[in-house]
Amino acid sequence: MTRVLVLQGPNLNLLGTREPDIYGRASLDQIHGAIAQHADELGLGVEFFQSNHEGALIDRLHARDFDIAIVNAAGLTHTSVSLRDALLAVERPFIEVHLSDPSTREPFRQVNYLHDIALESIVGQGAHGYTLAMESIARRVAAGDLPA
Ligand code: DQA
Repeated sequence: MTRVLVLQGPNLNLLGTREPDIYGRASLDQIHGAIAQHADELGLGVEFFQSNHEGALIDRLHARDFDIAIVNAAGLTHTSVSLRDALLAVERPFIEVHLSDPSTREPFRQVNYLHDIALESIVGQGAHGYTLAMESIARRVAAGDLPA
């Protein structure tokens, strides 16, 4: 079974109450619950990891116990060479997801250390972006582009 790691960066544990006009009212647990249910329907295995600490996210990637990742690196998207390096080092494809569309927000969010190495980027779709990422992964598995 294809193993999907959903990696969530700093402050995403506060979803639901954090700037809901930008990020929506669903909590991270609710979002993860919906992803897990969808994973069952699609026949994908899924694990979740959220951390507010850059090194913990990097250590989680180093475990290399997944076939593909869905990564919302949150603020680290715009700052972290180290997270970029880790994603390259572990040689696993990933889909970048953002609830908002950082490219239409403050100028500092237009710096993105992950976009050019992501398989694809899904932005500005709210929590639905994770559903779209899971469906994209299922299509890639069906096409033989990822281990089944
Ligand atoms: C975010 C966008 C980032 O710019 C921001 O720092 C976040 C959340 C998003 O999902 O829209 O924390 O990744």
